[in-house]
Amino acid sequence: MVQHTLSLRFSLSLLASSLIATASAVPLTPRSPTCTLPANSTASSIEWTTCPPEASVPDNVQCASFSVPIDWDEPHGAHFNLALVRVPATPSNSSSRLGSLFINPGGPGGSAIELVVALAAGGESIGLGPLLESFDVIGLDPRGVGFSNPVKCDMGIWAERVSLFPETQEEFEQLVEHNRRLGESCLNMTGPLLAHVDTISAAKDHEAVRIALNDGPLNFVGLSYGTQLGAQYAALFPDNIRTLLLDSMLQHSQSEAANILTESTSYQLVLTDFFAWAATNETSVLHGRDVEALWRELLANATQTPIPAPTCNGTTCRTDVNAEEILFNSQAFLHFKPAIPGLGASWADFASALHNASQGDASALSSSLTDPSAISGLAVECLDWTHNASLTLAGMRAKKAMAEHYAPLTQGASQSWALQHQCLGWPVPVANPPAKLHVKTDAPIVMVNSYADPSTGFPWALGMLEEIDNKVFVSRDGVGHTSFALGGETTQVEIEYLITGRAPRDGLVTRS
Ligand SMILES: *[C@@H]1O[C@H](CO)[C@@H](O)[C@H](O)[C@H]1NC(C)=O
Ligand SMILES: *[C@@H]1O[C@H](CO)[C@@H](O)[C@H](O)[C@H]1NC(C)=O
Ligand SMILES: *[C@@H]1O[C@H](CO)[C@@H](O)[C@H](O)[C@H]1NC(C)=O
Ligand SMILES: *[C@@H]1O[C@H](CO)[C@@H](O)[C@H](O)[C@H]1NC(C)=O
Ligand SMILES: *[C@@H]1O[C@H](CO)[C@@H](O)[C@H](O)[C@H]1NC(C)=O
Ligand SMILES: *[C@@H]1O[C@H](CO)[C@@H](O)[C@H](O)[C@H]1NC(C)=O
Ligand SMILES: *[C@@H]1O[C@H](CO)[C@@H](O)[C@H](O)[C@H]1NC(C)=O
Ligand SMILES: *[C@@H]1O[C@H](CO)[C@@H](O)[C@H](O)[C@H]1NC(C)=O
Repeated sequence: MVQHTLSLRFSLSLLASSLIATASAVPLTPRSPTCTLPANSTASSIEWTTCPPEASVPDNVQCASFSVPIDWDEPHGAHFNLALVRVPATPSNSSSRLGSLFINPGGPGGSAIELVVALAAGGESIGLGPLLESFDVIGLDPRGVGFSNPVKCDMGIWAERVSLFPETQEEFEQLVEHNRRLGESCLNMTGPLLAHVDTISAAKDHEAVRIALNDGPLNFVGLSYGTQLGAQYAALFPDNIRTLLLDSMLQHSQSEAANILTESTSYQLVLTDFFAWAATNETSVLHGRDVEALWRELLANATQTPIPAPTCNGTTCRTDVNAEEILFNSQAFLHFKPAIPGLGASWADFASALHNASQGDASALSSSLTDPSAISGLAVECLDWTHNASLTLAGMRAKKAMAEHYAPLTQGASQSWALQHQCLGWPVPVANPPAKLHVKTDAPIVMVNSYADPSTGFPWALGMLEEIDNKVFVSRDGVGHTSFALGGETTQVEIEYLITGRAPRDGLVTRS
């Protein structure tokens, strides 16, 4: 089962945690008006305690909470608690403790706590041991996400099936009305925080926690949407950074149509690679088949009649799967080609999912109806992206026509499409609209992207080269979303940068 329509959600599911990526923007101006947090927000320190037994985390994980204002513009107004975990450094003879390292898994909506707990248990086995030795690894759940006052909504409304590709005025109005009712329920159940889960506010939270840790300048790994969080942090607090690793770049500043174009063509590029692989690789159950023809036929069949999902019961996930859901939910299956234990679904799993669907069991492609990270992610997305181009049915249809011409195999289905259309009618206004950043740091920022990333496409990474002054760009000549957990050459380069603070050669191309 896949999260409903949120395929940009990147699932580095080493821990089964969902990682994704997206954007933010406040009145960010170039370096000069960088930000200082309100005076008293930095006063308190962080008290680490044993995690509650029901959390059942490894012994080396400690827990804490930290109070921040709901609205950073009203620092004396109502506060709430952020939740965070720490895995203390374990320096050895050959390594010394270097400070604290934040890791954000993306989404938006992915829980950094879940990711860091998983790394505490299994990080060494995927080659991240040197980071665990050298750093206190910090998992700070962003506001509204995970254990940090998570956004709550009426999951009954969330579970209603509504098309994100409306064709008639009536279907269009149904979509907007559905979004409005869902958003009202979130506002009702979450309270005023719903209007303040934008990425700028999350970046300020990270700065407040960094100061409270009193452990020197920031070390940060942002995966997928976490790259936007990191870039917006760097725009606000350029002087407070030691290392900033951005793996799989989200460019927040683009037009709505450009985002659809980049993401749906990136998805199609990798889908086409997958078709060739699945037809020839011995680990694919579709070996010897014309996989693109099967894909088209499956979509045609599911358009006629949704395909049953017998392992779903309508509460956990939807009991059948239509063509639109196949398009949205397949994107995340392309994130990781190899079958690395703990990493998440591999291409072999995707071949199996399509094979099963062609045999009448589409369970693996069914939309999850219970995923809290999807709700949190939606709330962040609705504050971070505009949807002006879809305000009329005609505008939406024109965008769809573009997608069908440029990416006929994926037809526009993507996380960008989902967020632009799930946020129509949302009851709280955009807080962090797309805008170019101008990041000027003294410390070099390292950006990494694969050539064929089905989620955060290469064009976004190249676009971010224009928004970050002092950077080094590393390309992985390969497929997939994120490189941090692959354990290859790229992971080695990333680890070395975080530990030494020295960036690799600009323009480096890695093979694994
Ligand atoms: C900052 O001020 C607010 C309101 O006066 C208060 O609730 C909060 O606890 C203060 N924070 C710190 C860290 O002292
Ligand atoms: C640390 O170094 C000493 C002396 O070189 C050695 O005896 C010891 O085994 C090393 N400890 C570890 C954990 O590597
Ligand atoms: C908001 O909550 C109240 C009380 O829990 C409930 O009666 C009302 O129906 C809710 N409204 C929405 C839009 O969810
Ligand atoms: C579906 O399964 C879940 C988990 O097993 C259960 O909690 C839920 O009640 C079931 N729903 C229905 C409609 O049977
Ligand atoms: C089949 O795919 C797997 C996973 O990517 C890869 O490791 C293996 O080398 C491939 N086999 C061949 C013969 O290319
Ligand atoms: C496909 O079905 C087989 C047999 O039921 C099952 O073992 C396998 O896990 C399914 N594949 C996926 C991706 O769920
Ligand atoms: C599509 O439906 C036809 C008729 O039921 C069936 O024979 C065929 O196997 C299906 N193809 C796929 C790819 O699901
Ligand atoms: C686009 O949307 C934003 C936020 O909803 C709004 O402030 C802005 O005025 C809109 N721009 C246009 C050109 O409609």
